[in-house]
Amino acid sequence: MSLLTIKGLTAAYGEAKVLFDIDMSVAAGQIVSCVGRNGAGKTTLLKNIAGFLTPTSGSVVADGRSLLGMMPYDIAKFGIKYIPQDKKVFQDLTVRENLELGSYATKDYDWEQTLSYFPKLKVLMERKAGYLSGGERQMLMIGRAILGSPKLLLIDEPTEGLAPGIVTQLREVFKELSRKTALVIVEQNLPLVCAISDKVYAIRDGRIVAELVDAISVDMCEGYL
Ligand SMILES: Nc1ncnc2c1ncn2[C@@H]1O[C@H](COP(=O)(O)OP(=O)(O)OP(=O)(O)O)[C@@H](O)[C@H]1O
Ligand SMILES: [Mg+2]
Repeated sequence: MSLLTIKGLTAAYGEAKVLFDIDMSVAAGQIVSCVGRNGAGKTTLLKNIAGFLTPTSGSVVADGRSLLGMMPYDIAKFGIKYIPQDKKVFQDLTVRENLELGSYATKDYDWEQTLSYFPKLKVLMERKAGYLSGGERQMLMIGRAILGSPKLLLIDEPTEGLAPGIVTQLREVFKELSRKTALVIVEQNLPLVCAISDKVYAIRDGRIVAELVDAISVDMCEGYL
């Protein structure tokens, strides 16, 4: 059964149209990746799903409910957590405080699960987030999103600028997470995309130009960028 279904989504910034007639579906437990060049519209797509932008037309339905018109915090409360590309954390708050903020409204923290994925966060718990390295900050961002056991995670370029070791670790975490949570990942790292994805959407100039499901390879993806 489809967890997220997008039909005919069109989006714009003012007069500038950015996304055209996007159809997408994500089933429970799937990892779905979106690939495309800089400026293709990947971030815009995630923001439209997460409620930070409102589509000009089309529908976005998750778990039987239309997300159109819902506020971002209500979408988050509904179990759809968005991890933005900019990796912004609250610098002056501790790692623990940053983590708790993600599910403040519902307080359904699953510390055990979160720390089993990212044991390093245990050691960093009382540190100010402003001191974290890029990799640690990404662990914090993902940790914050999964602390409340979401049904769907939307992650924008999680491995951008990270060292290979951390990328490998994230790959395992995503695989493990997908047993409970569906993931939509925007990612430029094609070997990673191919290793974890059940489905890949290639986006070019705001349109889906390919939907790959079987034997997804780097060559196939590259051909559509
Ligand atoms: N706030 C904004 N106002 C106007 N135009 C915007 C805004 N944000 C993005 N755009 C434009 O929308 C288009 C898609 O941008 P978007 O950020 O979604 O691309 P992207 O695929 O995420 O790119 P990248 O890989 O560089 O992150 C681009 O042409 C961009 O210039
Ligand atoms: Mg982007």
